[in-house]
Parts: sequence; structure tokens; C-alpha cells
Amino acid sequence: MTSLRIGLAGLGRLGQRYAENLARAVPRAELAAVCSPVESERAWARDTLGISTIYTDYAEMLADPSLDAVFLVTPTSLHASQIEQALDAGKHVFCEKPLSLELEDCRRAAAHAEKAGKRAMVGFVRRFDESYRHAFQHIEAGGIGSPFLVYSQTTDLADPSGAFLKFAPTSGGIFLDCSVHDVDLARWLLGRPKAKKVYSTGTVAMYPPLEAMGDVDNGIAIVEFEGGRMAMFYASRTQAHGHDTHTDVTGTAGRVSVGRNPRADRVEIADAHGVRNTVVPSFYERFAPAFVTQAKHFVDAVLDDTPFELTMDDAVEATRIAVALRESLQSGQPVLLD
Ligand code: NAI
Repeated sequence: MTSLRIGLAGLGRLGQRYAENLARAVPRAELAAVCSPVESERAWARDTLGISTIYTDYAEMLADPSLDAVFLVTPTSLHASQIEQALDAGKHVFCEKPLSLELEDCRRAAAHAEKAGKRAMVGFVRRFDESYRHAFQHIEAGGIGSPFLVYSQTTDLADPSGAFLKFAPTSGGIFLDCSVHDVDLARWLLGRPKAKKVYSTGTVAMYPPLEAMGDVDNGIAIVEFEGGRMAMFYASRTQAHGHDTHTDVTGTAGRVSVGRNPRADRVEIADAHGVRNTVVPSFYERFAPAFVTQAKHFVDAVLDDTPFELTMDDAVEATRIAVALRESLQSGQPVLLD
């Protein structure tokens, strides 16, 4: 096979970015078909990307024998079953994070992938970001001694329209939607330890409708891993300055930090008010190149039959921890993990 013929399901906020990347920026990827139940999204694919094979129904797209692989950028509640359907239809499958909102679904999908003749990967885009990779390599080379503590945050710009409230009920809550990235990073940067115990809490600072959903707009969490390793997470929907994702890893011989100043570019303005820079407005401006690198990684690994850098077990473990954080938020108690 010289190229991978891909069918993409989900053309929403992120799916359209994936479609553009697969159509224009990923070597050896051929965006051969798309699928969305929404007419305006199908029209977008036809008019903007010139895609002619367009499905309204996922099962119909899976029945297309000309497709080698499927990309899923659909609502999280559909991921696990759509992965299983794709594998059953004989397609390789890439799925956006998180794997599912429920641990049992994750385990079932991972077991399914284990037995399937095709390959499955869940994307955690930060692992493909150049700065995070640099940090990982520095840690692996012993640059901070033995790493034992991660602080990591995912915090979004406040949106006065409250548009994100539309996604909130199907997102799984702030820890599954946002902190799951930080959970995966912490596991990766600390050497994939098992989590033993978690605690979380949160507050509704700006969006009262979240209370009825059992969710918060600002959450904090602590995770204890085996071997004395630890992580602290902060997730927020209410930042005044922009999308501020950053991570510190502390070890016995130093610390490495990624993205502490979430600068939009390299311009710094100094005047009578002080020194300042502008900030990225959303996750996409921050991680756009990493989404392309991640898609290339999937395509190359499938075509060249090389291993994925992220396993299905990684995806299950990140979700297991994020689900426990959601439970802790709801119960107000620490949650022990076996
Ligand atoms: P969205 O709601 O904007 O888009 C979802 C899309 O799925 C829509 O196009 C909808 O029409 C389509 N869809 C719904 N049911 C479908 C079906 N049965 N078959 C095919 N398409 C179907 O959501 P958004 O924000 O694009 O998120 C999608 C996924 O991407 C979520 O799992 C989310 O967690 C993940 N995500 C990841 C981010 C990251 O930083 N890695 C950032 C934003 C989202």
C-alpha cells in the first residue's frame, strides 16, 4: 500500500481541522470519504475540500470497501462503539481522546482492538507537540534526575456566550474533557506508573448551569502514583487571558517546564504599562502542528507496520484516572484505585 485511504467521521469544531489536515498536510494520507449527520457539515466538506464521497450514516461509510482506515472525531459518548464497529468492518482506526466516558466501555474497546486484525490508536495530541517531546527526551536522558512530581494545567479562555455549555453534558465533565490530557502527560513524563489514589474538588465560578450537570468550571486534582510519584492538575473554563496549558516536571536533579508563558508569538511589548505579550486564544492555535504530526504518526505506523507511540492501554489508564477524578468530585472523597 502506498497511501492510506481514510474515511473521516465527525466534521464539527475539531473534525473540520482533521479533514483539512488529512486532505492537505499529511503525506501518504488520502481523505477519500467523510461522514456527518449534519447537512451543513457535509456541504462544507463538498464545497471546501472537494470531497465527493460523503455519507450521512457511519455504518454505510464502514461498508465502503475502498477505505483502509477511519478517523473518529465524533462526540466522546460514541467513541468506544464506533471503534469496535470500524475494527469489525476491517478498518484501522484512529480516535480522538478520550476513549470513552465509562471505564467498562474503554476496557471493552481495548479488548476488541487486541483481538482485531486491524490497528487502533487513541490520540493524545500533546505527546506529538515539539516542546513536550523535547521535555520528554530531556527527562529520558536523565536531565532532571528521577522525576517524581508533575504539575499540569489545561485552562480555557472564558467564553462570555457560554457556547461550551452545549458540549458540557456529553463531555464527561471537566476532568474527562480537559484534565485527561494532563493525566496522560503525567503518566508519560513520570514513566507510566500506576495510579493508587486520587482526590479532586472544584467550583462553579462563572457558569451556573454547570451545577445542574454535576460539573464545575474550575477543578483541581491530586493523583498519587506508585513509587512515590505524584501529580497535581488544574482545569478551567474561565481564564481571562487565553488558553493557558502548561506543565512542570520536577525531579531529584532539576525541573523542566513546558509552555509556562502561553505566548501567541515571539513579540513582547514594553511600554509605560510594563512588559507583555499576547496569548493563544484556544487549544488549536497552541497545538495545530502537533495535530498534523499525530496524524502522520498514525498513517506512517499503519503503512510501515511500526508500533504506535501510544497504546490502547495508555488510553484506558488515562480514562480510568479521569473517571476516578469525576467520582471524587461528586462524592467529595478520595478514590482508591486497585
Ligand atoms: P463537535 O460536537 O463540534 O463535533 C462532533 C461531530 O460529530 C459533529 O460533526 C457531528 O455532526 C458528528 N457526529 C455526531 N454523531 C455522529 C455519527 N453517528 N457519525 C458521524 N458523525 C457524527 O465536537 P468536537 O469539539 O469537534 O469534539 C469531537 C471530539 O474531539 C470529542 O471527543 C472531543 O473530546 C475531542 N476534542 C479533542 C481536543 C483535543 O485537544 N485533542 C479538543 C476538542 C475536542
